[in-house]
Amino acid sequence: MPALKILQLTDLHILPQAGDKMLGIDTEEYFQKTLAHAHAKHGQFDLILLTGDLGQDPTADSYRRIFRHLQTYQTPCLCLPGNHDDLELMEAELHSDFVSCRKHLLLQNWQIIAINSQKCGSPVGLVSQEELAFLAQTLRTHKMPALVAIHHHCVLSQSSWMDTMRIENGEELLALAESFPQVKAITCGHLHQELQTTHKHIALFATPASCFQFKPLATEFALDMLPPGYRIFELFDEGELQSSCYRLPISMHDLQTNVHGY
Ligand SMILES: [Fe+2]
Repeated sequence: MPALKILQLTDLHILPQAGDKMLGIDTEEYFQKTLAHAHAKHGQFDLILLTGDLGQDPTADSYRRIFRHLQTYQTPCLCLPGNHDDLELMEAELHSDFVSCRKHLLLQNWQIIAINSQKCGSPVGLVSQEELAFLAQTLRTHKMPALVAIHHHCVLSQSSWMDTMRIENGEELLALAESFPQVKAITCGHLHQELQTTHKHIALFATPASCFQFKPLATEFALDMLPPGYRIFELFDEGELQSSCYRLPISMHDLQTNVHGY
């Protein structure tokens, strides 16, 4: 039996007003369906991890609606920002005993570390020197197995248009992470597609969005007809982990694949 079961949801792209649509779909409806599917199929989680792009052109109300949906599950939720998010608004609205933007969580004998990869005014990722110092200090202090969560990807994904928006100092982040043997995995969103690879002893994951998906191996913006998805981590006492992605059993017939840009 795993010690911990974690649900990762990412790239919700919740719009300013309830009922708004993006690329033909109601992103809030898909977020709710994704949450519901994950719980119906896998039961209660020890943690729900939300790895950025929670809002699209976000307002306080965007985050209030996300908060309300999360609150109903009475499960610890950790939210970190993506390039579309407003961190100040997030911190103001995603704030309760269950839901927070905390950067570090101790869960049994594991630790979850949330890193901000926002680059001001840009869709590109950057891990600031402050964030790198926070990661190093946290890992020096806490020696238990670590799952690091971040919005942007730090290695090439082979979607060249998305790779122009990866973490521009991803090598620096990986060099730091690899110097700590307790870092077991780094998981991200941003790519709107599933990915799994390794760097030295570290497993690297990207997770499908809870709304629309991007086509793998694309050279420019291209939507995939795959349905929304999520990732589950099972963390074991000895520091091992298992992870799989799941998708909703729905058709994306409303998705407007002829629209460019997001
Ligand atoms: Fe996104």
